[in-house]
Amino acid sequence: MEFFITGTDTGCGKTLVTLAFMEKLRASGGRVAGMKPVAAGAEMTSGGLRNGDALAIQARCSGSFPYEIINPCCLRTPAAPHLAAAAEGTRIDIGKIHRAAAELRQTSDHLVVEGAGGWKVPLTENLDMADLCRGLELPVVLAVGLKLGCINHALLSVDSILASGVLLVGWVANSLERGMPFEAENIATLQQRIPAPLLGHLPWQAKPDPAWSAGRLRLPKTRTTARRPSRY
Ligand SMILES: Nc1ncnc2c1ncn2[C@@H]1O[C@H](COP(=O)(O)OP(=O)(O)O)[C@@H](O)[C@H]1O
Ligand SMILES: [Mg+2]
Repeated sequence: MEFFITGTDTGCGKTLVTLAFMEKLRASGGRVAGMKPVAAGAEMTSGGLRNGDALAIQARCSGSFPYEIINPCCLRTPAAPHLAAAAEGTRIDIGKIHRAAAELRQTSDHLVVEGAGGWKVPLTENLDMADLCRGLELPVVLAVGLKLGCINHALLSVDSILASGVLLVGWVANSLERGMPFEAENIATLQQRIPAPLLGHLPWQAKPDPAWSAGRLRLPKTRTTARRPSRY
């Protein structure tokens, strides 16, 4: 099984959702790999640039993969990827990402890929995250960071995902705040309006725990086609 985790925003819980699904897939059997194709915001180490999301994903892979396969494009600057790349005098190499994904697919039964930022984040002059996901032929799970404004962000993201012609196989409600007002009503509103199943609700956690969170998720049916409802 393989899928792509996008989100309503940066900081909405994509990494937590990615790691939780990796845990879930590991428990279901088979070899699990994760990938963060593009990361902007990294520390220089003796081994080269390292991004925190990618390191967490690497640590949860069943096999031991070189960092560059998990995160083929690592930028130091914490900015929109195309701007970070320009500031560093480089370009995001889509071909390198495809070669790394092919290597992970060859040696794994399951692959979970975490985007960067949201669905329409630009990567090059003419390609964005949606194009990358479509190129990798991955179905999509949307992580919705629950906060004021998230209904609008989630529904805009859903429209855009469906317009990209990829499969939306589910969404996850992720509580970014403790005791958000009208939390259950926000989730219910989204359930009514998103034409794909809710795969789980991750409550706010003082110390977010991917293994515990895995127990709150169910795996998407990756062959299910989410169709646009007639009102579109
Ligand atoms: N359910 C949650 N409960 C508490 N904190 C959370 C929760 N989900 C995410 N966070 C915190 O919010 C921040 C952003 O989450 P993260 O998964 O890194 O988002 P993204 O990958 O979309 O940028 C992190 O500090 C993370 O620990
Ligand atoms: Mg992340």
